Amino acid sequence: MSGEEALEAQLGEREYYRPPAQFVGQANATDPEIYDRFEDFPTGFEEWAELLDWDEYWDEPFDGSEPPFFKWFVGGKLNASYNCIDRHLDERANQTALLWESEDSEEVRRIAYQDLYREVNELAAALRELGVEEDDIVTLHLPMVPALPITMLALARIGAPHSQVFAGFSADALATRIDDAGSDVVVTIDGYYRRGELLHHKQKADQAVESADHDVDNVLVWTRHGPEDLHEDASWEDGRDIFIEDLVAEHEGDRIQPVSRDAEDPLFLMYTSGTTGRPKGCQHRTGGYLTWAAGTSRNVLDIKPEDTYWCAADIGWITGHSYIVYGPLALGTTSLMREGAPDTPHKGIIWEIAERYDVDIFHTSPTAVRMFMKWGEDIPAGYDFDFRHLTTVGEPIQPEAWKWYYEHIGHGDAVIVDTWWQTETGGHLITNLPALQDMKPGSAGVAVPGIKANVYGPAGEPVAPESGQAGDLVIERPWPGMLQTVYGDPERFIETYWSQFSDTNSDDWRDWVYCPEDGAVYEEDGYFRILGRLDDVMNVAGHRIGTMELESAVAQVPEVAEAAVAARQDDMKGEVPDVYVIPREGIDEEVDIPAKAVAAIEEEIGAFARPNAVIVVDELPKTRSGKIMRRLLENISNDENLGNTDTLRDPSVPEQIRQQVHGD
Ligand code: PRX
Repeated sequence: MSGEEALEAQLGEREYYRPPAQFVGQANATDPEIYDRFEDFPTGFEEWAELLDWDEYWDEPFDGSEPPFFKWFVGGKLNASYNCIDRHLDERANQTALLWESEDSEEVRRIAYQDLYREVNELAAALRELGVEEDDIVTLHLPMVPALPITMLALARIGAPHSQVFAGFSADALATRIDDAGSDVVVTIDGYYRRGELLHHKQKADQAVESADHDVDNVLVWTRHGPEDLHEDASWEDGRDIFIEDLVAEHEGDRIQPVSRDAEDPLFLMYTSGTTGRPKGCQHRTGGYLTWAAGTSRNVLDIKPEDTYWCAADIGWITGHSYIVYGPLALGTTSLMREGAPDTPHKGIIWEIAERYDVDIFHTSPTAVRMFMKWGEDIPAGYDFDFRHLTTVGEPIQPEAWKWYYEHIGHGDAVIVDTWWQTETGGHLITNLPALQDMKPGSAGVAVPGIKANVYGPAGEPVAPESGQAGDLVIERPWPGMLQTVYGDPERFIETYWSQFSDTNSDDWRDWVYCPEDGAVYEEDGYFRILGRLDDVMNVAGHRIGTMELESAVAQVPEVAEAAVAARQDDMKGEVPDVYVIPREGIDEEVDIPAKAVAAIEEEIGAFARPNAVIVVDELPKTRSGKIMRRLLENISNDENLGNTDTLRDPSVPEQIRQQVHGD
């Protein structure tokens, strides 16, 4: 079989879908020469930096003299809050910037650019008076309410980086991040709605501040319904806890001059999971990050100021930072955000909202698409919405789900844009510019202009596209949106992302290759098919969870001797964790170990990381040297062939576990 035939056999029938003519006719990016312009490294990227307002222009677009600590738009100065708010006031002061819907749609807020300007300024003034200074890192633990983007933008205005921790994270997870960032100030809210219930939220910050090593001076508290109507369980510590409403009341009408930040000054930290238990604080710079968020929002998401754009992600993750807040607002559009679950108050709510506001662009995850598909096409068919652009992010989308989305949500006349990227990359790296390439279900698309992507074999040799072979996805050249470092741990930055395929002794940036730890196939047509993580990280419903984090949480249970986590393929969520545990000898038989393991995960990480199953076993498959063979557990979880187990310390163990899980 020739290489080409092998590829055909592997991919099955190739299918391309042309972008609809009416989309192409109005798209932002229609000139294929953008790829040539951005090949001109590094000056090509200036085109996207020009989308922003700079207080001072850069001297050099790129400084690669200290790899891998690259600098972008060196000498330039700007403020992210100014770029997302002030500069739009002349033309669109009364246009809605943030359109917020509560879970039951009874509360709605339309925050015009003028209102956003006022609220952000007043909060910035209050924060400054409280003592928050430029470069202080403030940790936020906020859900999907307008308070979250307002706080981010107020901090950006005074040059204090934010570190927003997804509201679903537990108190312990929050404490770890407060300690790592060394935050003196934490911002939370008393409660928020999920599935009709007002969840008490402030207690997580209370517990986190209690257990953190770092001394937190203040917990600033937003309220869901106003200070006079606090969540009934909220507690209060005088002196430490302050209502944001009270702080801001003293600053009514105040205006704060946006701090002119160096392009390289950090804008925010975003913690993410890796191979080891400790989360990494990905540090993003002001100039390069905002350039990338704005450039990709314009060219990939096709956002225009007059659009109503809805990204249904959570601002607590990078998608929401780049593509609910910074990118869309930098372009002056209307960005919709919603509190609550997609099936509450009913399964048609997403489409009802899309119809109500005539949403033009809708952005979600493949997990959500699979869920909509399971609920059935009759639900969206009951609403009159009309998208021109649909984005997916976070996981591979199976062609079947893609086609359903195309037909039943896009009605065959919207583009579907699969976007591959990571917390670390700041924004999209692999995706089509939707008017310029045909869509191909199951492939993320081509490299973004200026991005040099490739697929390497184990020895770092490029895999020929025509071979159809999978390998390590790599990025061979720096780009402005990339993380600056791992906060406080430059060694870990090098070790995690660069050590695999770079000449780490070289001071020539060309010798440095970024390794995202994803498997991919580089297809002959230049498209990349992303296969998933190569390290010990699971992708659960588009959420990145380290297996080591899960294992160390379960190891906290006193009755557990050993724990190992395996990824089970799941039709809905992509992957879900199965936890295998060996109980300690001599423990009380009555103890419900699975329940304790689940509780430990909820406490250490959060309920969103809850395992699919906890399986209590007598022994785990181990090599003779005692290393747990997680691959075999994964085979068992997925009911796959176990292969040869002869080299194990006890070759019969996998079969015993298999029978326990699946029967005979
Ligand atoms: O494995 C890839 C997967 O999500 C990982 C990044 O997760 P996170 O940092 O949480 O960012 C999610 C939002 C960008 C990647 O290493 N991933 C992301 N997008 C895709 C994807 N896998 C396949 N196709 C995608 N479009």
